[in-house]
Parts: sequence; C-alpha cells; structure tokens
Amino acid sequence: MFFASDNSGPAHPKVMEALARANESYAMPYGADPLMNEVRTRIREIFEAPEAAVYLVATGTAANSISLATLSQPWDTIFCATQAHIHEDECNAPEFYTGGAKLTLVPSDHAKMTPAALRCAIEAEESRGVHGPQRGPVSITNVTERGTVYSVAELTALCDIAKQYNLPTHLDGARFANALVSLGCTPSEMTWKAGIDAVSFGGTKNGCMGVEAVIFFDPKHAWEFELRRKRGAHLFSKHRYLSAQMLAYLTDDLWLDCARQSNAANIHLVRGLKQIDGVTFLHDPDANMTFAGWSRAGHKRLHDAGAAYYIWEGSLDGANPDEVLTARMVADWSMNDANIDRFLELVRG
Ligand SMILES: Cc1ncc(COP(=O)(O)O)c(C=O)c1O
Repeated sequence: MFFASDNSGPAHPKVMEALARANESYAMPYGADPLMNEVRTRIREIFEAPEAAVYLVATGTAANSISLATLSQPWDTIFCATQAHIHEDECNAPEFYTGGAKLTLVPSDHAKMTPAALRCAIEAEESRGVHGPQRGPVSITNVTERGTVYSVAELTALCDIAKQYNLPTHLDGARFANALVSLGCTPSEMTWKAGIDAVSFGGTKNGCMGVEAVIFFDPKHAWEFELRRKRGAHLFSKHRYLSAQMLAYLTDDLWLDCARQSNAANIHLVRGLKQIDGVTFLHDPDANMTFAGWSRAGHKRLHDAGAAYYIWEGSLDGANPDEVLTARMVADWSMNDANIDRFLELVRG
C-alpha cells in the first residue's frame, strides 16, 4: 500500500533489462552513445518535431532548472502557479541555475493558472524599468502538483498570452505521460502545437530508474543548454545508462502503458473512496494523484497496517478520532487493485 509517490515504486523490468544490456559493452561517453541517437530520433518522431533538440538529465529539478535557465536572463522573473514544483519543491534551484531570476507566483485554481490571472501577473511586472524584474518565461505543470490536468485549450490559452508578451513557455512534464493519456491527445498537441517551447519530459515517476528528457522545439537553444548542463554538473559521463532507460521507456509504448496503468489505479482508488461515507476531495483527480480527507481513526488504521502516503493537512497525533485529515496519494504503474482494495477497507474501517 505504497501511495507516497509515483517515484517510490519500482522501475519497470523492461527498463532494468535495458540497463543490463547497456552494461554488456562499451560506448562513447557524455551523450555520444549510439542509444542516445535512437532516443533523439524516437522523441522527434513522437513529438512530430524533426528539428527538436533533445537531452537527458537524471532529475526533474535539473530538467526544469537548466531548461528555464536557458530560456531566461538573470534579471527576469518566471511566471508559474503558486503550487508549482519549481517554487515549492526545488530548493530555489531555478533561481540558482538562472543566476538570479526570480519567480512570480500566479494565483491559480486547483493548481491551474487561469489566463486572466496570468495576464494580470505579467502586466504587473516590467513596470519599474531598470529597477524591477523583467518578464521572463511562463512555466506550466501538467499533470499539476494537485493532480489536475490542463486541457489542450487551457494550455493554448496560457501560451497565447505568453506569446502576446513575447515570452517563452516551459512545460514541467514530470508526469507528462499521465497528462497525455488523461487528455487522449498527441504529444505535439499538448506541447508545440499549443505554444510550448520547452518540455521537461518525465521518465522517473513512470517506470524509469532515473532519467528525464529536456526537449526544445527550436534547436537554437541547443548549444546554450549543453553548456549549462555541463556547467551545472548534470552531463553524465556514463550517459548510455540514461539513454538505455529512456529508449526502453519509449519502445513499444511502454511509457503510455505505464501511465494508463497508474491512471487506472487512481480511478479505482477514487471510485472506492467516493463510496465511503464522509470522504471528501480537495481537487478533481484527473490523472494519478488524489487529495482526499477522512477521519483520523481511518488514517491510524492505515498507518498501523503499514500504508505509506503523506498526510497533507492535519496530524496523526491528536485526540479526536473523527477529525478529518487530508492525504495525498499517488499511484504508480505497478499498483495493483488488491492493494488498493485493502487500502479502501482500512479507510472504511
Ligand atoms: C511536478 C514535478 N516536477 C518536477 C519533479 C521532479 O523532481 P525531482 O528533482 O525530485 O526528480 C517532481 C517530483 O516530485 C514533480 O512532482
């Protein structure tokens, strides 16, 4: 019953087999391995973007920070939702890698920026000449940090505003595949056709061991990204192990299958929770992440049985067994229904 995060589950056996195969021979280092050529080709095909520049790093924080640094100047401000991972969970890495750019937090609805709020935030910046921050990239997360998913129309509306101000756009796709299968659109529709310039394309949360891709649809960013990745200590020497994971992930639709499995597991969980009296939801769960509340007594039963998830609001330590505490639960590709049913039984009591 491990719902703590989609990165707490195992890597997919096909990814591990690919790593073992990569370990059988030699390869040129620093991204010059033949597997990386295949990854590049595959990502360009999947995104219908033959010119795209494609790179690999090992963490989502590196993917976000180094791509945003490439898209901005140190005196810029990056527009993102209040709940954005780049704001709440990256220990100021974006500010560090950009060499001083700041973040402007855009009020949002269930972690989704609205076009009106984004426009208002952009208008409020660059109003103090040399004294204030200059307008920089707009960074959008899909799946959002609260488990909601922007539709293609919503993404397009945000990108349209960014373009009106000539600002580049970045998509934090740590859960890209989960958003994609939830929307049922193509990768190009969720990105460059909607107006996205750069993508952090997640692998780790969805079956890889530790790899994320960075994709720039305009290759003019390629060299600067390469320099920043190296200078930022994220150019792997034994790069073929990153390539092998990403290639296995993209082969035979493994990335889509894993996302379908984790989204389906989440649907199973949500359906079950909805049938339990008193369970409340903080947001509409659109992909593989759910925020829901139930009694402290239920949480204690789960805790004692070894269930792992984060208590989002409230504390297990408290006298009132009926007090509602909320939980954040994330399903990964390996989650099975029997596990979820056991979890639900314990919530029910
Ligand atoms: C929305 C989002 N972006 C990026 C990341 C990547 O973070 P990490 O640096 O832990 O791989 C995460 C991981 O939790 C995330 O949830």
